[in-house]
Amino acid sequence: MLLFTLLLEVIWILAADGGQHWTYEGELENQHCLWASEENCSRSIRDSDLTLPGPHGPDHWPDSYPECGSNAQSPINIQTQSVTFDPELPALQPHGYDQPGTKPLELHNNGHTVQLSLPPTLHLEGFSGKYVAVQLHLHWGQKGSPGGSEHQINSEATAAELHIVHYDSDSYESLSEAAQRPQGLAVLGILIEVGETKNPAYEHILSRLHEIRHKDQKTSVPPFNVTELLPPRLEQYFRYNGSLTTPPCYQSVLWTVFNQRAQISIGQLEKLRETLFSTQEEPLTLLVQNHRVPQPLNQRIVLASFIQVRSLYTTGKMLSLGVGILFGCLCLLLAVYFIARKIRKKRLGNQKSVVFTSAQATEA
Ligand SMILES: *[C@@H]1O[C@H](CO)[C@@H](O)[C@H](O)[C@H]1NC(C)=O
Repeated sequence: MLLFTLLLEVIWILAADGGQHWTYEGELENQHCLWASEENCSRSIRDSDLTLPGPHGPDHWPDSYPECGSNAQSPINIQTQSVTFDPELPALQPHGYDQPGTKPLELHNNGHTVQLSLPPTLHLEGFSGKYVAVQLHLHWGQKGSPGGSEHQINSEATAAELHIVHYDSDSYESLSEAAQRPQGLAVLGILIEVGETKNPAYEHILSRLHEIRHKDQKTSVPPFNVTELLPPRLEQYFRYNGSLTTPPCYQSVLWTVFNQRAQISIGQLEKLRETLFSTQEEPLTLLVQNHRVPQPLNQRIVLASFIQVRSLYTTGKMLSLGVGILFGCLCLLLAVYFIARKIRKKRLGNQKSVVFTSAQATEA
């Protein structure tokens, strides 16, 4: 019996680790940063931005995972002037997020991200089925470079992004079963930017990172109010059909990307960027830049649950409008000036002739 469970364990481990090795670009190059001076480090990052995509980087994902090269991939750049307003989209309703039970949650450095397990008491309503939560994880950039989020809104990336992963428990038994079926998963995407103050909700995760610096390390976190990781306005979101943003890139995700951002402090962002390693032992490699670039939208549509309050004029338009008005005023002023001059001349001429005629009259 013991032998049997051991065998099962081995099979399970092999199955879990059986996928091909994959990385994000630049992971290998960042190794320098642990040994080099800061200046050399940022130089090596700059160089690696231009060249040297890793042999297992995103360009090579489709070699081992064909779906990564398919045509409905995530993330995307959401262009707000091209989204379709859908008044049928209801406000997102997270249930059980406020109090996720009493059992501790597992926080895990899996070498690609930091992941927090979530109990199935957390679920989403406002979808066609019931989607229960499984885990949440983060994506981020690296020191000295902007960006880090996966989704972009109007080509603007933020410092980091939170993903909360759910699966359709009405239709499927488990996450792994649902992960390969259309709309089997529902993921919430929260763009994270740097704000003035420390975010206490994110601190439940970030303050524990030093306990799981190496790949495959785990720790447990007391349950906390997960709603507070979300932005305040849950009724403003974008919805589209996409994929997992990491191999195997299954196109099974109904995405919800919130319009509003969450905020963490610069200190919290630094902790996220500088604490974790993507490796288990030497050579230790910082776990950074774990975000995929936006993928082509192709034929897909992006729905919006709200009407954009867009400023009518962009800065460029405002500027040309200003110049136009100024030029118009100048023309008008000149016209008035010349007309006034002409009228005065005419009047003066009339007066002269009047004086002349009256002089003639007195002479006569
Ligand atoms: C996603 O795909 C399904 C099935 O093709 C479709 O019914 C649904 O309208 C799509 N949703 C969006 C937001 O495009």
